[in-house]
Amino acid sequence: MADPVAVTLDADPMVPVPYEVVARRALSDDTTSLTLAPAGPRLADARPGQFFMLWAPGVGEIPISLGVAGPGGQVEESIRAVGAVSRALSATPVGGRIGLRGPFGTSWDLDAAVGRHLLLVAGGVGLVPLRPAVLDAVERASDFRGIGVVVGARTPGDLLFQDELTDWGERPGVQVVTTVDHADRAWHGHVGVVTEVLDLVDLDPARTTAMVCGPEVMMRFVAQALDGRGVPLADVQLSLERNMKCAIGHCGHCQIGGGFVCLDGPVVAADRALPLLQVRER
Ligand SMILES: Cc1cc2nc3c(=O)[nH]c(=O)nc-3n(C[C@H](O)[C@H](O)[C@H](O)COP(=O)(O)OP(=O)(O)OC[C@H]3O[C@@H](n4cnc5c(N)ncnc54)[C@H](O)[C@@H]3O)c2cc1C
Ligand code: FES
Repeated sequence: MADPVAVTLDADPMVPVPYEVVARRALSDDTTSLTLAPAGPRLADARPGQFFMLWAPGVGEIPISLGVAGPGGQVEESIRAVGAVSRALSATPVGGRIGLRGPFGTSWDLDAAVGRHLLLVAGGVGLVPLRPAVLDAVERASDFRGIGVVVGARTPGDLLFQDELTDWGERPGVQVVTTVDHADRAWHGHVGVVTEVLDLVDLDPARTTAMVCGPEVMMRFVAQALDGRGVPLADVQLSLERNMKCAIGHCGHCQIGGGFVCLDGPVVAADRALPLLQVRER
């Protein structure tokens, strides 16, 4: 079958394009991956760290990061059900349709890490936006002095993509460290927040590029810990989260400081982002 025709943002970035759920899998009690295939024209390819607006017809629209791109314009999106829209999207059955707009926003700058240590730190569902960057990085591991992946979750059952974490950790030059807030009887790994295990990763602070995604408080503590270890904040990339409506810089919903997360983010260097994280959401 021929590839569907690409629709670019020049068409109309506010009009959702229909996609069909062609596969779904549960990642944890509250997080589901949907594989979405264009039901007609397809959107332009997204870069890791960018996001789409996903529309559950009759319910609403929310920002969801690129998970993994597949053939023929397919995208795998992973959604944690926390409210009305994310629950409706997560519940969409195979054969059901949802709308997509995008891609929007800034992306992880993996090339900035070439020849350096690369550290990727995720908390909870924050592994979803980081995962395509990790997948790219482990495929070209020799480009980096070493790759560290640190993942934290509330419980062992909340650790997403466990098979991939194991696979990445077996690759030469890749170190994976996982930790949970609350262990169960079967868990023999680390217990505690990600900042407590950061020191386990081998890195040369002055030659490290870090990418961090998770709850704001976690990103703030990780950035501060890396700063304390000597990693320049300009080399620490964070992914900001703000509620969004338009995603094109018109509505002001995601304004933070003098900018908009939908345009100037979500991926922002920590030296710029940390002062903004003091700004309360409107
Ligand atoms: C750029 C970007 C990328 C994102 N990527 C993903 C992703 O790949 N997968 C994913 O599961 N989620 C992602 N999110 C978060 C997702 O957009 C929110 O969970 C969603 O907007 C919640 O909407 P809702 O209607 O389901 O819940 P609501 O009814 O709006 O909220 C339910 C609860 O969740 C909290 N909440 C709402 N919005 C957010 C938010 N943005 N961040 C944190 N807490 C929130 C509310 O305070 C409330 O307690 C992303 C957010 C942004 C800004
Ligand atoms: S979501 Fe409207 S300005 Fe960013």
